[in-house]
Amino acid sequence: MYNLLKGKKGLIFGALNDKSLAWKVAERAYEEGAEIVLTNTPVSIRFGEIQKLADKCNAVVIPADATSVKDLENLIDKAVEHLGGKLDFILHSVAMSLNVRKGRTYDNLDYGFLNKTLDISAISFHKLLQVAKKKDAINEWGSVVALSYVAAQRTLYRYNDMADAKAMLESIARSFGYIYGREKKIRVNTISQSPTLTTAGSGVKGIDGLMDFSERMSPLGNATADEFANFCIVMFSDLTKKITMQNIFHDGGFSSMGMSLRAMTVYNQALNNNPKEPDNYDE
Ligand SMILES: NC(=O)c1ccc[n+]([C@@H]2O[C@H](COP(=O)([O-])OP(=O)(O)OC[C@H]3O[C@@H](n4cnc5c(N)ncnc54)[C@H](O)[C@@H]3O)[C@@H](O)[C@H]2O)c1
Repeated sequence: MYNLLKGKKGLIFGALNDKSLAWKVAERAYEEGAEIVLTNTPVSIRFGEIQKLADKCNAVVIPADATSVKDLENLIDKAVEHLGGKLDFILHSVAMSLNVRKGRTYDNLDYGFLNKTLDISAISFHKLLQVAKKKDAINEWGSVVALSYVAAQRTLYRYNDMADAKAMLESIARSFGYIYGREKKIRVNTISQSPTLTTAGSGVKGIDGLMDFSERMSPLGNATADEFANFCIVMFSDLTKKITMQNIFHDGGFSSMGMSLRAMTVYNQALNNNPKEPDNYDE
């Protein structure tokens, strides 16, 4: 413990259960001295375990659908009121794709679902920033972080329309980061995290193979949820005051690799077993 967030107030989206990346961040933020408010959708609050986390972190839970501006306005007002002052940090840890859930492939997208994917996973970040700015709800030098994935830059089999959402999310961080930095000295960044076994992560079919592959490709191995939380705390702290409009890879080096010895070894073993190319492609 370093007391990195002593006296700071924060709002954390997206803790569903103890596997959630947001859950680990909430625990670490509380340990580092922050006062926090938690939020999630009414359904996730009912079916998830967020109240357990709230009890542990001495926090309140305020329901909000991150796609609803009305809900976000109510959330920001209530959070500031409850915390007795403006926010110093916000974590946006929100994503969902009905195309992924319903097994629609990228060349057979349902466009209604695509709109939902973009609204929940990217535009909600803009809505949050716009509401917070209009209400002047974040202190100078505050820090806002959203969660991204390398599929924003590179095509990964089966990541589907979530790749488009992440590309948009990272763009929003840059575009809004410029304005929020210029006018209010507020930082806006995305952290691009290794694949992690969470409820959203498990929604990507074949996540085990993907995790094994990226583990072998990354010189430092996959970043865990606990490691993500540590890095996120640093991004919320005063130690990173001049970092803004960035997408920062927290991935053990994966995003800079092309091929590693560990991955090549497994590939060569498979070659010796005469693998067949798939005769049809499901994505
Ligand atoms: N798990 C991974 O491999 C991985 C890797 C990189 C980035 N991410 C990103 O991390 C973030 C958190 O995901 P996670 O892996 O912790 O999974 P998770 O399933 O625990 O969290 C996703 C959260 O989004 C919330 N959510 C969905 N729709 C919402 C809405 N309309 N309004 C408000 N909240 C809503 C869910 O209730 C849930 O709490 C997501 O943005 C995800 O894309 C995950």
